[in-house]
Order: sequence, then C-alpha cells, then structure tokens
Amino acid sequence: MGKIAEGCAPGKVILFGEHAVVYGQPAVAASLSLTLRVRIQEAESGVCVDIPGWLPAPLMLSEHPSEALAIALNALLNAFGLNSSMPLLVEVEGDLPLGAGLGSSASLAVAFTRALAQFKGVSLPDAELLRIAGEAERAFHGHPSGLDHTTIVRQTCIRFQQGTAPQEIHVSQKLPLVIGWARREPGGSRRVISELRARMSRYPELYEPLFKAMGQISDDGAQTLVKGDWERLGTLFDLAHGYLAALGVSNLDNERMISIARRAGALGAKLTGAGAGGAVIAVVREEQAPEIAQSLREAGYGALVSSIASHSLSVSDQKSASF
Ligand code: PMV
Repeated sequence: MGKIAEGCAPGKVILFGEHAVVYGQPAVAASLSLTLRVRIQEAESGVCVDIPGWLPAPLMLSEHPSEALAIALNALLNAFGLNSSMPLLVEVEGDLPLGAGLGSSASLAVAFTRALAQFKGVSLPDAELLRIAGEAERAFHGHPSGLDHTTIVRQTCIRFQQGTAPQEIHVSQKLPLVIGWARREPGGSRRVISELRARMSRYPELYEPLFKAMGQISDDGAQTLVKGDWERLGTLFDLAHGYLAALGVSNLDNERMISIARRAGALGAKLTGAGAGGAVIAVVREEQAPEIAQSLREAGYGALVSSIASHSLSVSDQKSASF
C-alpha cells in the first residue's frame, strides 16, 4: 500500500468585526469543535480531489486549473515542491458544513497543509502553517485579513487585528449560542468582499466611520465575553448586525434566520462571516437554545446548538447539524 498522510482542522465563527477587519479594525472569532479531515494517499494518476457535499464529482486538479479550489490547492502543493500531475488521491470528510460561512475554506487549507507536511515528513511551526495556508486563502477570498486561518490554527477564541499579535480571550462562563446556516451562493464570499471594496474605494468617507464603530463593538464584545454579561453581548450582536446590513453584505436568508432567532427569544443575533447567505449566530438563554435551533430547521435552514466554554466552541447536538 502507498504512503498515506492525514491532517485535521476545525471550523470557526466570527463573533465580531468581519469585513471591518479587512480594513484594519479588530475582530473576535472562536474555533468550532466541528472539523474537516484531509487524507492524502499515493494513487495512479494526477492529483484527484474528492470532497463529497462540496464537489459534484472527484476533481482532477490539472483538468480544471482555473477553479478557485484548484488554484488554492495547487498553491499548497507547490509550497511542498509538489504539483497537480503528482499521482495523489486527496479525500476530504468531516462534520463541518461546507460553503456556509463557518470557515470551511480556511479549515480545508489548514488541514491540507498539515496532511502535506506529514506526507513530506516535515514538521511545521504555526507561523509557517499560517503563511502557507494564507496562500490558499488568497485564492478563495482575494485579500484575506488572516482572521479565519489564524483562529483555526490557534484553536481558541481570539481578538485579531492585522499587524498586531492575536490575543486569546478568556471567556469567563459558558456562552450558549445557536448557529444557523443557509447554502451560500457559489463564490458569494469573494463577491461581497470585492463589491464592498469597490464601494469603499469610491466613498471612503462614508465607510470609514462604520468600520471604526464596528472595531469599537469588537473591543467592547471582547470585554463583555470576559465579564460574562450575555444580555449586553446580545445587544452588541444586534448592533454589529446593523452595521453589517448597512455595509450591504447581508441577504434575505441572513435576515430571515436572524428574525426567526430573535422572535424565538434570542438575546441578539447577527450574520457571521462574509454574508451573502452563509451563517448567523444568536446569543441565547441555555434553556431556549433547542427551541430556537428547531425554529430555524423548520424554516429549512441548518442549525445547531453550540457554546463557548474554556475558549473554543463546542457543539452539543451534532446529530441535527445538517439540513
Ligand atoms: O467567508 P468567511 O466566513 O470565511 O468570512 C470572511 C471574513 C471577512 O472578514 C469577510 C474577510 C476576511 O478576510 O477577514
């Protein structure tokens, strides 16, 4: 049997500061207990990638070189002196919902980088892992802030700001959350990020004050997480979502999920990640969490009950994680 190597990485949720973080503001994000696993083994022909639920059929990288996924994975292969004509089978599995705004592209990049390092027998310090996985994130997102893959590599709850060292946030008591998600249109993340960039370059005087206010909410949110005041955190989620909607990155699915969660009793709710569908998060009272998740599922969305305790997010009802 040929050589086999494996790598694993979690997903993430952004609690505060998505989009504003691209323009230098602080953000807060936590890793999830849901993961992706990448397995590489020697095969007959060029690199073939199998991601059930993401790709309709296994993808031969050399046959579709201009696909964002192929560009991203090729960048990772090249970092290890490999290329798309190498005889390798890459299989991806896991319980992290794909393409929903929960960090699956960064998780795939980190897990694939870890698998490649094991395949080549090299040990990677975190700084090198971040640098290499960041190259793949550029293919997926254009100009990523680094927030997604830093949270995923750190595997904890962090305050992140470009140009400064990430700070771990010690969440003082269990924070109950409900996460809901819709399928995001393909390429939706990249589209909303680049359209916002175009609006920002045209009218910086209109957007800069919004980004600054979002950065202040991130820092207030980080302190509120430390204090454990979940009513205030809910209000901060609602405020943060108002700014994201003002930036034009929300869509009908995000707004519906948020309104369902609020009507079912959430203390506050916001979109998480780039927007354009994808995921939302709601701060909830623990006893109401299952009912709020159920309301989202009844409306046709994916939903799970989760919590942040001792820094990273755990998921308590994975059995109903998909829709
Ligand atoms: O699409 P996601 O969930 O990976 O979120 C991207 C987060 C942004 O702030 C919108 C972009 C970035 O590079 O930080």
